[in-house]
Amino acid sequence: FLHAGRGVAAQGPSEWTSWGSWSGCSSSCGRGVSVRSRRCIRLLGQEPCWGNTHEYRLCQFPDCPPGAVAFRDLQCALYNGHPVLGMQKTYQWVPFYGAPNQCDLNCLAEGHAFYHSFGRVLDGTTCSPGAQELCVAGHCLSVGCDGLLGSGAREDHCGRCGGTNDSCFFVQRVFRDAGAFTGYWNVTLIPAGARHIRVAHQSHNHLALMGSDGHYVLNGNWAVSRPGTYQAVGTHIVYTRDARPEETLHVAGPTSHDLLLQVLLQEPNPGIKFEFWLPRELYGPFQAQVQALGWPLRQPQPREVVHFPTLSTILTPCAPHSTTPTDPCLPCPDTRGRAHRLLHYCSSDFVFQARVLGRHRQNQETRYEVRVQLVYKNQSPLRVREYVWALGHCPCPLLSPHREYLLAVQRLVSPDGTQDRLLLPHAGYARPWSPAEDSRVRLAARRCP
Ligand SMILES: *[C@@H]1O[C@H](CO)[C@@H](O)[C@H](O)[C@H]1NC(C)=O
Ligand SMILES: *[C@@H]1O[C@H](CO)[C@@H](O)[C@H](O)[C@H]1NC(C)=O
Repeated sequence: FLHAGRGVAAQGPSEWTSWGSWSGCSSSCGRGVSVRSRRCIRLLGQEPCWGNTHEYRLCQFPDCPPGAVAFRDLQCALYNGHPVLGMQKTYQWVPFYGAPNQCDLNCLAEGHAFYHSFGRVLDGTTCSPGAQELCVAGHCLSVGCDGLLGSGAREDHCGRCGGTNDSCFFVQRVFRDAGAFTGYWNVTLIPAGARHIRVAHQSHNHLALMGSDGHYVLNGNWAVSRPGTYQAVGTHIVYTRDARPEETLHVAGPTSHDLLLQVLLQEPNPGIKFEFWLPRELYGPFQAQVQALGWPLRQPQPREVVHFPTLSTILTPCAPHSTTPTDPCLPCPDTRGRAHRLLHYCSSDFVFQARVLGRHRQNQETRYEVRVQLVYKNQSPLRVREYVWALGHCPCPLLSPHREYLLAVQRLVSPDGTQDRLLLPHAGYARPWSPAEDSRVRLAARRCP
């Protein structure tokens, strides 16, 4: 019957109680499971709750002592010497792994050619010897990175459990420097914290890795190491080489120290492909470092010396009707004010004073070419000339060529690492430069959390 306490009892969704506490572990050594449960509070006419009533998590004790009887063996052995199958004869039972459901307690009668299934194994029994998966309620479940069985949670390439690869940047480049002499050439720095490093090339040259202490991890001092797995910088480095010729490096990471990737040149370099994933906060310093070493990564950028391409073809005048008639530029929202300035100053990667040299509309974007004059805030070095991108044909605010602005922009790297851009967000911060604006921005700089 309906509870009288509430006016309209059958309205609204049903609700879960909070989770009960975790049970003790199913085993006292090695791996086991513990369980917790909750109940669905459901009034007459309500939908059932959505979700599981039970949750299982891995519990891990130190390994069982050598010679300890395995959990499944123990469960089979419980039937030793007891009459089963309605027969008087008794048997010695050992696990049998050839039966269809590995989470049934299938036991072989020792010395006989039959097995018997005694129902489900106990929760926490491994699905098969040496397997990582465990049986729970008769199902073989793997342990997610969140420690829950069957959650399906996995680490992303940034090392975050259940993440979406958005806490790190993907760096992918081809090193094409031909090399003027035989010997070691720097290819790239791979900062500590990098994950999923892959390097490959097809030539008789050899990849080399140097640790931050100046010692080689691989192929150092003109001696070529054997292919295999090397333990260094807190991870495994898998090095392969074959006669094709081809060489590869695979490193799961995260690395505990910086690595310097080099190539030992013996013939012209046909190109060395490398990639790795780097935590966001390390990307700026990394880029600054490689730029200092003369390996610019941000691309493509305008060249400093050349004169402009024919401006008339790339510059579209700023006018509301300059695009298609069905796509007029609407007035921009008013984005003045201290709060707006503060928000954008503090959350942007770069704040600088720049002169707009040109504006180019292509596809659904507007590209400004700017000359950076004064940098207030930067996450990594800026060049004198940069491209700043804005979304759409009518970005807000719209910048006019030949004028100077204070800009707060974000760095945007595409997931595949091929595009690395400065982005002026919609309704972002772009104010005509003036001495007053300059002092307001300097003030904002001191207010960031
Ligand atoms: C993360 O990136 C890797 C490599 O590109 C990809 O295989 C994986 O599916 C991505 N993970 C997520 C959660 O997007
Ligand atoms: C390679 O980089 C290292 C570390 O920055 C530097 O000490 C060394 O001089 C470089 N070697 C060459 C050949 O440029």
